[in-house]
Amino acid sequence: MATLLEKLSYRVSQQLRAGWFSSHYAATARLSPPSRPKTNSEKQKFPDTKAIVKDLKRLFARDWTNIEAGLYQAPEDQWPNPLAVLRQSTRYFRDLKKVNQRKYNGGVQEVAKTNSTMRLPDYYLQNFHYQSDGYLSAESAQLYDYQVEVLFTGGADAMRRQALVPINSAIRQKGMRNCRLLDVGCGTGRFLKSIKQNSPRLNVSGLDLSRPYLDKAQSNLAPWSRHSLVQSAAESMPFADDTFDVISCVYLFHELPRPVRYLAAAEMSRVLKPDGVLVFMDSLQPDDFAPFNPLLEQFPQEAHEPYYADYLKDDLHALFARNGLVTEVIDRAFFSRIMVLTPEL
Ligand SMILES: C[S@@+](CC[C@H](N)C(=O)[O-])C[C@H]1O[C@@H](n2cnc3c(N)ncnc32)[C@H](O)[C@@H]1O
Repeated sequence: MATLLEKLSYRVSQQLRAGWFSSHYAATARLSPPSRPKTNSEKQKFPDTKAIVKDLKRLFARDWTNIEAGLYQAPEDQWPNPLAVLRQSTRYFRDLKKVNQRKYNGGVQEVAKTNSTMRLPDYYLQNFHYQSDGYLSAESAQLYDYQVEVLFTGGADAMRRQALVPINSAIRQKGMRNCRLLDVGCGTGRFLKSIKQNSPRLNVSGLDLSRPYLDKAQSNLAPWSRHSLVQSAAESMPFADDTFDVISCVYLFHELPRPVRYLAAAEMSRVLKPDGVLVFMDSLQPDDFAPFNPLLEQFPQEAHEPYYADYLKDDLHALFARNGLVTEVIDRAFFSRIMVLTPEL
């Protein structure tokens, strides 16, 4: 049972977090090239800031309820070093100038001529989010998690933690020592870190196309043993059939073209054990939460997200079903959809 002090610490730290990242969000909007002005009818449809803040508070309330119920642990970095946060903020705003320049000029192909040792697919060699160096530099890996928190006004980690509920439940059922987990598109290992905080002895693997992001993941996972990181494409994974008990996949599919999404789902189905679980998390789709629909439609106009509009139209339930994965649960956390899927019997 959590103490009153722990509850207070959680509440105050998350309020400060939301305030900090919301102020970055507002400053980013002010400093960025102006978007197309909204028509009056568009303005009426857009959720107002109060509604978004209310939903973020709902997410934090749910997060705390889960922590209190012992479904996962409270975040370890509730009280980060203020100097480190200021350094990261400075880095963010310094980079924002370059991001805005790119946005202004429509620069999205700066990473097309990369010197990666691995041959990377063309659809991947772009400046997603107008990000400097795309996914292909140590500097980008250093900034990524902070940028995601700004985008979600401090709610990104709390959203990811909602996927820990089905993951931890599957791990408990199988026993931590016998279970193998794979995080597909693991990025900097932010989510794997939170999985390891909860299940330190769990054998985890992370897969991603980006070498610099995997290097960052390696340093994020340094406190633990029993982890491995693989540079590979989700659509052709170097694992044998039926290898993993649990697979997680967070915020990857909206950045894949439709045929690649299909292949990645087929690969996840292939390497998942017949009694395994896939926990999928990505952006909401239209009508997952109707008040947010206009924001989903607007997102690919603001950020360079070349496959997002198509992602919104893709029937994920059918996509997974065609690959032998049955949807058991669909849930929503702020701007994320969570799906829990199991192999068809
Ligand atoms: C939006 S980020 C999500 C990262 C992380 N899962 C998170 O929760 O923030 C997408 C990640 O997927 C990786 N990625 C994109 N296409 C990929 C592919 N075809 N195969 C493997 N990784 C891919 C990128 O390098 C990047 O790290």
